[in-house]
Amino acid sequence: MKYQSIFRPDLFGGQSVIVTGGGSGIGRCIAHEFAALGATVILASRDPLKLTSVQNEITEDGGRAYSVVCNIRDESDVQRLFEETLRLTQRIDHVVNNAGGQFMSRPESISLKGWDAVLETNLTGTFLMCRAAYKNWMKDHGGTIVNIVADFWNGMPLMAHTGAARAGVVNLTQSLALAWVEQGVRVNSVAPGIIRSSGLTKYPPMVQQALKEMVKELPTKRLGTESEVSAAVVFLSSPAASYITGETMRVDGASSFYRQMMPIGDHKNFPRFEGFHRQANVPEDL
Ligand code: ADE
Repeated sequence: MKYQSIFRPDLFGGQSVIVTGGGSGIGRCIAHEFAALGATVILASRDPLKLTSVQNEITEDGGRAYSVVCNIRDESDVQRLFEETLRLTQRIDHVVNNAGGQFMSRPESISLKGWDAVLETNLTGTFLMCRAAYKNWMKDHGGTIVNIVADFWNGMPLMAHTGAARAGVVNLTQSLALAWVEQGVRVNSVAPGIIRSSGLTKYPPMVQQALKEMVKELPTKRLGTESEVSAAVVFLSSPAASYITGETMRVDGASSFYRQMMPIGDHKNFPRFEGFHRQANVPEDL
């Protein structure tokens, strides 16, 4: 079984891509799809065990992947990631800034330390990655950057830190798209809704139960899949998106702008796209 990508198998032949947070969840799926389309994938994350595991999967599937342990909050780590990538692949065509993290809390209970940590990972880390991509390769050769954000559009009252950081990344995407247009660098974002990924299993049981209830309120009556997010990332990284830069593409089944203007009855009319042949650890009944 191979990754069931809808894109042609040699789309990224001879090219390389860095995927942060590539050791699990959506990032792991994106890494697999790029590898299935011929790219050499550099998996970057803080957890060496997860990296090795995904690297082995990709190799088993006939793809090419390397692992580099990197904390995107650390400027020197990020620089080392780009130097290591150039040593391994001699080029950096695409960067997918997928690594991120947050915790649930009412805003008044977020400590300064917690706030700083989430902002550093999701906003500053993304900036450091974009800047390093530009300075180490893309200013001379062009390239694409895709930042993964979230459905923050109407505020995130229980994750205000990540909402602020993701909104910052959307504006950063626009700034960089304009600043680097002359150098042929395209910068876009993808904003996923609630995705049936391994990340969801990390929330406490009460949140899991609330999620099940929330599914009934979604226009599509189902969660998104990892491969639906990956397909958007691959499209934005591909020549098919050559005239798209500074854009944030929502992959959320219309949930971010759904207000109960008219009742949507229970239905099963939104068939899933499940291209990822190695999907694992996703909640069974969501
Ligand atoms: N995933 C979550 N946080 C991260 C970080 N700081 N660096 C790399 N990957 C991450």
